[in-house]
Amino acid sequence: MVQKGVFITFEGPEGAGKTTVIAELYKRLVSEGHNIILTREPGGIRIAEKIRDVILDNNHLEMDAKTEALLYAAARRQHLAEKVMPALRDGYIVLCDRFVDSSLAYQGHGRGLGIDEVLSINEFAIGETMPDLTIFFDIDPEVGLARIAKNDEREQNRLDRESLDFHYKVYNGYQEIIRRYPNRIVKTDASLSELEVTENVWKIICNQLM
Ligand code: TMP
Repeated sequence: MVQKGVFITFEGPEGAGKTTVIAELYKRLVSEGHNIILTREPGGIRIAEKIRDVILDNNHLEMDAKTEALLYAAARRQHLAEKVMPALRDGYIVLCDRFVDSSLAYQGHGRGLGIDEVLSINEFAIGETMPDLTIFFDIDPEVGLARIAKNDEREQNRLDRESLDFHYKVYNGYQEIIRRYPNRIVKTDASLSELEVTENVWKIICNQLM
């Protein structure tokens, strides 16, 4: 695929504040006249949103870890094929709330399936399409989970409800992934105020787009 656009993904533990910050960045980029789409994983299109509901359903406690990894990869494939790849081909900036690094951290490290194993099933799903830039919202998992608990508007899903130990494994998985991809992934301190995080991430994105 000849990619003309820019693919930017956002990663981090639960309660890192990604979603709010990305919405603000999207508004700023639109007002500057960029062609841009904002999307998320798992989801972003009809079929992947259905898969999301299956994965995150609080009643699906019996879901096997490999099934979970495969469902995320399936949702990712459909989302890429239907929405992200065409947008990149058309020269859009694509902002995506979570992508393959979430699978490597959550399923690879958190669930203990292995980062390389989860990468290999995802390579089948994504082919050559990797982000140009990934911003990691760095926050201690305990602080992030406490933020979620305080936020009445955010319903807790099956993954949010995992043990603190699981969320620390996910966090440590992210550290390993950041070591593997030092040129692609940039960390930002997500314990700062929303405004400070937005400004810091804005600078990182402007640098990338220059
Ligand atoms: P969200 O809360 O950021 O919308 O993401 C939904 C949940 O799915 C969140 O707990 C992270 C998790 N997740 C994975 O475990 N693997 C993945 O590949 C993705 C994209 C998300």
